[in-house]
Amino acid sequence: MNIFHRGISFLHYLWRAKTIYYIHSPFVYTFYKTILSHQHIDNTKSLATIRKSLANDHTLLNIKDFGTGFNHQKTLSSLNSKVAIRPKYGQVLYELVTHFQPKNIIEIGTSIGISSSYLALGNPSAIKYCLEGSEAPLHFAKNLHHDLGLKSMKYKLGNFSEILPALLETLNYVDFVFFDGNHTKEATLEYFEWCVAKARPESIFVFDDIYWSKEMTDAWETIKADKRVVLTIDIYQLGLCFFKIDKLAKENFVLLY
Ligand SMILES: C[S@@+](CC[C@H](N)C(=O)[O-])C[C@H]1O[C@@H](n2cnc3c(N)ncnc32)[C@H](O)[C@@H]1O
Repeated sequence: MNIFHRGISFLHYLWRAKTIYYIHSPFVYTFYKTILSHQHIDNTKSLATIRKSLANDHTLLNIKDFGTGFNHQKTLSSLNSKVAIRPKYGQVLYELVTHFQPKNIIEIGTSIGISSSYLALGNPSAIKYCLEGSEAPLHFAKNLHHDLGLKSMKYKLGNFSEILPALLETLNYVDFVFFDGNHTKEATLEYFEWCVAKARPESIFVFDDIYWSKEMTDAWETIKADKRVVLTIDIYQLGLCFFKIDKLAKENFVLLY
């Protein structure tokens, strides 16, 4: 069912997606030119090398399933290739953070630390909060970040429904949030509500897997329609929300990437 939804959604995306030649908004034009065309110096090569070596690492890690409450095991190789963000979209996270230089970053769903590495490489001085419910992947993530020389990383282990509100209570604002865990409509909208209460005009929220299931697409449609969100950009795998762009009426863009 989800595969059918993803296939239809992808065709629909291709039908609607615009290239740079059809963009009239100066902000979105600059976004396309700098972020989607990868104009920054690429500091992610060390991560690419590590990902290559993980492809052949069959070490098993214990993973907690938050739906059933039971543990199961997955290899590092499969966590890297099937669970972690694909390099093409990891690069977008890196470019976004390099360009906008958020002061703090929250990642909801860290797993073995791949997407958080793209985020941290983009702005080494930002404080990065990595939230994860499974101990073994988070332990691996800490070592990976250490090996990459990443600083200002903070780790929170536990169920998002407890650790996210507890973290938000300690922060005055959130600049950048990457939502990549618990892909249900209810949880996605709940985390969005909690985070938006701490958003400031320059904050950016990025949602992964917006077409992964009908539920996720429904959540994305609700977020797009939210009055507090001024601009959204859909690049199929990721949905981006901006809160205040000068002199721009609310618009939702679909860009070919
Ligand atoms: C898709 S993975 C994250 C991948 C990671 N962002 C990357 O691209 O490298 C989602 C993670 O969220 C965690 N997770 C899911 N539901 C959770 C919950 N309710 N509380 C805590 N962790 C949860 C899972 O253990 C899993 O590691």
